[in-house]
Amino acid sequence: MGDGDRDYSDLEDSNPKQRSSKVTERMIIDDVRDQYAGVARGGLSNESTAVRSIAAAFGYSEEELNQLPAEANMGLSCGNPLALAGIRDAEVVVDLGCGGGMDVFLAANKVGPRGRVIGIDMTAEMLDRARAAAPLLCAPNSSSRR
Ligand SMILES: C[S@@+](CC[C@H](N)C(=O)[O-])C[C@H]1O[C@@H](n2cnc3c(N)ncnc32)[C@H](O)[C@@H]1O
Repeated sequence: MGDGDRDYSDLEDSNPKQRSSKVTERMIIDDVRDQYAGVARGGLSNESTAVRSIAAAFGYSEEELNQLPAEANMGLSCGNPLALAGIRDAEVVVDLGCGGGMDVFLAANKVGPRGRVIGIDMTAEMLDRARAAAPLLCAPNSSSRR
């Protein structure tokens, strides 16, 4: 969605100052969503050495990266939550800001069939990627939602 498509008419408020701050907040959220939607629509994938090297720099192993479908990794890693979380068998894991689902899929392996992993993202294009990748992994214990 570009700027021209944005409609903030629902933010009517008697106090103009409050309205202005709500519009600013919504514009920031929309900007963030638009940026990530652009990345999700682009061609970055786990098949790229450069994309994989970003995840590797945060400690994802070659073995982990090899498990991922191409769509799941766009080089957006800014940490490695799985390395810190100590995820165990049968746990329920929620990944807020799951993007293409790379951590969702890796966590699905850790929690096993008795566990569940739920990916949440505000960007529909990111969820399209995660949903496209899920069947390739046969990970029925994972799901993605907005
Ligand atoms: C840096 S990317 C990381 C994606 C993924 N975790 C990865 O490592 O590849 C951040 C993701 O968080 C999502 N996001 C940002 N703010 C969010 C919010 N407030 N609620 C839900 N998702 C959000 C973006 O759409 C984007 O997909």
